[in-house]
Amino acid sequence: MRKLARKNIFKTKPYMPGKPIEEVKRELGLKNVIKLASNENALPPSGKAVIAAGRAMFTANRYPDGGCFYLKKGLAKRFRVKPTNIIVGNGSDEIIVLALRAFLKSREEVIISKPTFLIYEVASQIAGAKIKFSPLKNFRYDIPKIASLITKKTKLIFIANPDNPTGTYVTGKEVDFLMRRIPKKTIVFFDEAYYEFAKGVKDYPNTMKYLGNKNVIITRSFSKAYSLAGLRVGYGFADSGTVDALNRVREPFNVNSPAQAGALAALKDKKHVEKTLKLVEDGKAYLYGELDSAGIKYIPSVTNFVLVRLGKNAKKIYKKLLKMGVIVREMSPWKLNSFIRVTIGTKIENHKFIRALKSII
Ligand SMILES: Cc1ncc(COP(=O)(O)O)c(C=O)c1O
Repeated sequence: MRKLARKNIFKTKPYMPGKPIEEVKRELGLKNVIKLASNENALPPSGKAVIAAGRAMFTANRYPDGGCFYLKKGLAKRFRVKPTNIIVGNGSDEIIVLALRAFLKSREEVIISKPTFLIYEVASQIAGAKIKFSPLKNFRYDIPKIASLITKKTKLIFIANPDNPTGTYVTGKEVDFLMRRIPKKTIVFFDEAYYEFAKGVKDYPNTMKYLGNKNVIITRSFSKAYSLAGLRVGYGFADSGTVDALNRVREPFNVNSPAQAGALAALKDKKHVEKTLKLVEDGKAYLYGELDSAGIKYIPSVTNFVLVRLGKNAKKIYKKLLKMGVIVREMSPWKLNSFIRVTIGTKIENHKFIRALKSII
């Protein structure tokens, strides 16, 4: 019975994922549908990851290694940290939930920008946090505003960097400004799910430098640059005490064995990530060029997606695109009603999107 449930869980709208391809095919009777709606990687996973995950199926009668020993070892080597500084999650999403579960005490506050990645708000409401919202300024996180909202009760500050859905980023200087103002009892949660796409950007911060001496959790994902969204693997870096607390509140077997094996093999396949970054760079240049020549505005992005301003007809255009077999994201959940968000696809997919968009407007 609904009324027996905790009241908190009805405070936010449930998270609405992008429409699955099969659902659109079924509902609209379409044969060819492309999905540019969930910031996934357009490339299938690295063959090495597929083989490793497949091989792990042979021992799937056994529970997975709850400690993710080999994956942590691989991550530790790559990022020059100790395995005790790493938490692995069922997607980096899970680490957001774990952080709230482990650290938020009653009546404590979290600071969330608005609009940003929706899970911060959903998970914080469920956890019973008092939420302070900081509006974006020119589609960017407003760091001075965030700093001004900190009180004695602030436990967690969520920073999506780069941000979803805007594709913008917080600079190194802004991070330093914020970190100078962080009290000892506040944790800054840097969500770097799109890290690989932005790390070449000149003033994109190196948050890892704060690992030793500040309360930070830095999360990254295998869902984006590594093409493993369907396996659900994310990881986070923090001091060993923080990692210990996070481990105490997770399910003992939160990351399954094909996911652990697939992620480790994907981590080693640097060529796949390079190919992805090239595909995104080329695709973005193509989209920008086409949108510019059609006089359509967009928010320049350091990620694998672009927020495109279509004006008051955005939702109508979204629906027409859907009927033409192109799934993009409509932005009403973020109250960005005059926009759509488009993930960079393959060359063919990007062309199909532009052709469809041009035929509509
Ligand atoms: C900013 C941000 N953080 C986290 C995630 C979740 O990633 P994962 O698949 O690792 O749970 C996403 C997914 O879209 C995202 O956009």
